[in-house]
Amino acid sequence: MIFITGGLGFIGSHTAALFAQKGTEVVILDNLANSQRSVLDRLHELADPAKFIFYEGDVRDKNLLRQIFLRHSIETVIHMAALKSVKDSFEQRDEYESVNVGGTEILLEVMEEVGCRNIIFSSSATVYGNAAAPLSETTQTGVGLSNPYGETKWAVEQILKARSAKTTPTIRSVILRYFNPVGAHPSGLLGESPNGTPNNLFPVMLRAIREGIAATKDENSVKLTVFGDDYPTRDGTCVRDYIDIQDLAEAHWCAAERFAALAEKENPFVCNVGTGRGTSVLELLDCFRGATGVQVPYKMGPRRDGDLGELFAAVDPERTAALGWAAVHTLEESCKNAWLFANT
Ligand code: WQD
Repeated sequence: MIFITGGLGFIGSHTAALFAQKGTEVVILDNLANSQRSVLDRLHELADPAKFIFYEGDVRDKNLLRQIFLRHSIETVIHMAALKSVKDSFEQRDEYESVNVGGTEILLEVMEEVGCRNIIFSSSATVYGNAAAPLSETTQTGVGLSNPYGETKWAVEQILKARSAKTTPTIRSVILRYFNPVGAHPSGLLGESPNGTPNNLFPVMLRAIREGIAATKDENSVKLTVFGDDYPTRDGTCVRDYIDIQDLAEAHWCAAERFAALAEKENPFVCNVGTGRGTSVLELLDCFRGATGVQVPYKMGPRRDGDLGELFAAVDPERTAALGWAAVHTLEESCKNAWLFANT
């Protein structure tokens, strides 16, 4: 049995669906801060509803965590519950620290209490700070972190390292460093649907299309603002490593399947979850048009604070082989599925 904190979010829901479809029971904890209860109904359409056990609550609620671990025999925790807006993290520094770092500490305390030792942590390429791409797992982390969100992800990695490194470690961990997750479930039932104003490129892009279609086609109608065209990249716009959400979900399945071997090899076992390919914003818009026939309405704007010009993974064949994972879905598929989700 697997326990996914933040299991109704964009990444959590796809991961939960995958585990359930493969026959594993999934306990989900989510406080609906950036997800909706209707996601659970969608999960019930995708796999046997009996495979899902849902708790609505906060990852900092120690008593609730205790109840969950006592009621269910949980082998591995996939810890995704976190606040993830780079922008909000500047204004809500304490809350980001409390949920992302404090929440993990409480979870680890309860895991220790009940004797559950295995954790797969949702980390982010943001821990590489301002290091130059390609970013490999051995690249220095924690230097030049440009926002409080990134600091919290890095802090949790340090906590996991400290608890894993002793001769008799209390925790065994796999740290997955996500690059830019995109796409949607091929059924059209799951996708990225943040509460409130979206910040990430795909949901912003889909909103621009929706509102662009609704609005009259004048210059003031809603458009995607491309943040900067003066970066030292192929076309001046930022380059990112977009990873399809199905591949990302699969990385968690692989990590859980091979958990013991991975933690034996290296504790924590760290792996980038990226494709190794960089795509610029303009290339992405072009890919979206090719895949869906839809031209995203956009305008050029100034750089966004804290953005780096180029960010993509170095894929280490030894690590991905140990994980038994490879990115197989194309960016075209991500675009098609995201468009399908937007229209479902
Ligand atoms: C992607 C690209 C923008 C919006 C952040 C986190 C990272 C990860 C993913 C958690 C950039 C450009 C965007 C827009 C644009 N984790 N863009 N106009 O900033 O690469 O990474 O989210 O969520 O840890 O740091 O992702 O989707 O915001 O931006 O031009 O309206 O799209 O400049 O090049 P980012 P993003």
